[in-house]
Amino acid sequence: MIRLPGLIDPHVHLREPGATYKEDFDSGTAAALAGGFTAVLAMPNTKPPLTNGPSLAQAQAAAQDKARCDYGIYLGAGADNVASAAECALQVCGLKMYLDQTFGPLRLDELATLRDHVAHWPVDRPLAVHAEGRNLAAILFLAALHERPLHVCHVSRKAEITLIRAAKEKGIKVTCEVTPHHLFLTEDDLPQLGAGRGEVRPRLATAADRDALWANLEVIDCFATDHAPHTLAEKDGENPPPGFPGLETALGLLLTAVHEGRMTLDDLLIRTHTNPRHIFGLPDQPETFVEVDPDALWEVQAAQMYTRCGWTPFEGMRLRGRVRRVTLRDRLAYADDQVLAPPGYGVDLAPFAQNEIY
Ligand code: NCD
Ligand code: ZN
Repeated sequence: MIRLPGLIDPHVHLREPGATYKEDFDSGTAAALAGGFTAVLAMPNTKPPLTNGPSLAQAQAAAQDKARCDYGIYLGAGADNVASAAECALQVCGLKMYLDQTFGPLRLDELATLRDHVAHWPVDRPLAVHAEGRNLAAILFLAALHERPLHVCHVSRKAEITLIRAAKEKGIKVTCEVTPHHLFLTEDDLPQLGAGRGEVRPRLATAADRDALWANLEVIDCFATDHAPHTLAEKDGENPPPGFPGLETALGLLLTAVHEGRMTLDDLLIRTHTNPRHIFGLPDQPETFVEVDPDALWEVQAAQMYTRCGWTPFEGMRLRGRVRRVTLRDRLAYADDQVLAPPGYGVDLAPFAQNEIY
């Protein structure tokens, strides 16, 4: 058995408020604990989207009642909250800007709106972006122009990771995350997954893109699941929404890569604990750790998972390395496949966040 620090996932969708049939703060944080995560940062593309005080309060109330592990909540950047967003800055783990189309209505179209958000959001609070292709170049330029740090979500392509490498080499304050699904799946897996289940943003990319992510591991600051649950009926129906669940498979996939010598355990922990904590200024979680059997071989089965969505793109995969017990703030929160931390045990970390990196 080895002991790891509590993992931190800076990118999850817990669907509350508005779509609790897909997931909620209870089921989503149960899935987090089962996956070895003791803190998750929840995205704002809910119904309604979290773009102002009242919608944020709705999500905060649900999280306070139901979360089993610690969490933070993002504010969403909209066309009409440039001036008011900063009022929420101390209550959230960051501002999320969508430059590309994905699930939900939060995409920003106007250059002026992008510029104004980058200019107004407090420089010492995290700014996270979904920006693919040319949009990545645009937002990197705006962040550099305003000399403010930027965190790029779910980087998936060679041209993007090499652009981020070049930006870092120039001294631009950029960090980034990559998902397990972009490290372990490609468009070649689409026929087997099925078209609807294979829908995800950013899309599964080419084998050359995946290889470039692995080749640029040193440029990747965090591994983030982008846990984006949609039900099987939705994924297999008409207009399948994009998104994969990922909380309960991430650590197994990454530990399998460690086992195969593709990265070290240190590489894994820097990207699932040290860097996310640092980038988002999250407080220490005292007496918090994950006990893992690194040699245990297990088969991925959605039927055994805590996520409400009922499926996984990794079904049937055999992984090495399994979470046995999770202790969160001195309380046994998960053991022997059972989630033990009750709803409401989770703490909102955002009000305690402090960004030393800036
Ligand atoms: C996410 C979702 O379903 O909320 N979907 C996805 O394919 N990644 C949207 C997002 O990550 O922005
Ligand atoms: Zn996402």
